[in-house]
Amino acid sequence: MRHTKVKDLLSSTTTLHEVNAKGWVRTFRNNQFIALNDGSTINNIQCVVDFENTADEILKRITTGAAVSVTGTLVESKGAGQKYEIKVAQLEILGDSDPEKFPMQPKKHSLEFLRENAHLRVRTNAFGAIMRVRSVLSFAVHNYFQQKGFVYVNTPIITGADAEGAGEMFQVTSLPIDHLPKNEEGNIDYKKDFFGKHTNLTVSGQLEGETFAMALGQIYTFGPTFRAENSNTSRHLAEFWMIEPEVAFNDLDANMDLAEDFIQYVIKYALDHCGDDLKFLEGRLLEEEKSKPQAERSEMTLLEKLNFVLENNFKRVSYTEAIDILRDSTPNKKKKFQYIIDEWGADLQSEHERYLVEKHFKCPVILFDYPAKIKAFYMRLNEDGKTVRAMDILFPGIGEIVGGSQREERFDVLVEKMKALGIDEEELWWYLDTRRFGSAVHSGFGLGFERLVLFVTGMTNIRDVIPFPRTPGNAEF
Ligand code: 4AD
Ligand code: MG
Repeated sequence: MRHTKVKDLLSSTTTLHEVNAKGWVRTFRNNQFIALNDGSTINNIQCVVDFENTADEILKRITTGAAVSVTGTLVESKGAGQKYEIKVAQLEILGDSDPEKFPMQPKKHSLEFLRENAHLRVRTNAFGAIMRVRSVLSFAVHNYFQQKGFVYVNTPIITGADAEGAGEMFQVTSLPIDHLPKNEEGNIDYKKDFFGKHTNLTVSGQLEGETFAMALGQIYTFGPTFRAENSNTSRHLAEFWMIEPEVAFNDLDANMDLAEDFIQYVIKYALDHCGDDLKFLEGRLLEEEKSKPQAERSEMTLLEKLNFVLENNFKRVSYTEAIDILRDSTPNKKKKFQYIIDEWGADLQSEHERYLVEKHFKCPVILFDYPAKIKAFYMRLNEDGKTVRAMDILFPGIGEIVGGSQREERFDVLVEKMKALGIDEEELWWYLDTRRFGSAVHSGFGLGFERLVLFVTGMTNIRDVIPFPRTPGNAEF
């Protein structure tokens, strides 16, 4: 008999038929009730074991973590909290799990402990829910752009370009010389040393994406990107996934409209398709908040926060206006922002961003027209000669979730800028070709996928929303 997913069993419209379910034991109570989970849903199906007619040898092996197959009748459940259960006629242990050794026992584990067991933490309710939400969100990303006719472009992971010019790249090194492949004559075969040229892991697919937007009109990328910044924060990963749309003929306003519409769409999609998981994560967050002092607790529940983002426009504020707000603000008695931002042109620190979003505007904020000096070379210079058409989207509890801009489409201005920054024109000859041949206004942005997943799941550490986080010193598996 084929097995049926627990999710489908729980939404069955008929009962009293024979079913088979396979999954992992979450708990086994009173030698009788198995809570069985197969990953298809946060909900377990209760399997009632006929313990009087089941050998002790088998009962002993029904332990947390064990894989089992149960066959029996699907019946309405008398127990609270579940509609159906399986009255077990036949039970098979597929894989034992030694209760003395299995780390994911049904008790509260710290997130730190779970991180050390990234291969097993997905067997907990919280991580099962997070990973399902992550999966649905990535589907929503494709759905959004595909419905709008964007072309999905796979930009290279290994590249010679430093898109951000920030120098935070992992170099792709060739093998040590005595390990290089040899040809039949025993000489090193440099052709097989594909490199011979200096390459890095990509920090962004933007520059390659721009070349495609200048042919296909609207494109997006969605892939892994790498940053070799040695920062150990709850918002940074060395390997993260980024979504980068790029649109020909869009100016900065259209870019903001696209980003806002896109974010609202994917959040709505998660609300519509991950109801049970988000409810669970909301409860988890409420529990976690209880341990915080009243003043630090969130005023809204997770679902309220998500709905708030859907129902409210993002506040659009120029960098200059933001600096004025920060200068006038006294976020707390000890610290005044005017001492931190003492001059126009400084980059905002995350505490400034959080103040703007969480205390001042209390909604997502799009900051635009940043000083040219603190932004990347490719951004469109404004008429004032000192600001660029950049935009960052800031989210409550997260900080920067999106970075983007209208691009500098004027060949001469771009080359001038590159010269001033010491960026090699020769190396970016292909990028400059977009400005040499049929250049036009165009814009795009990058959304850090994990930061989005953080926001939607209500988690607070970025290590908890990616299956196997890569951070400094963490790449064991
Ligand atoms: O602001 P960033 O560096 O922008 C770019 O890479 C542009 N080329 C994007 C574009 O215009 N096409 O990165 C974009 C976003 C950030 O807003 C943030 O959400 C995320 O990527 N991000 C990170 N997420 C996790 N860990 C890191 N180390 C991140 N660095 C950036
Ligand atoms: Mg940025």
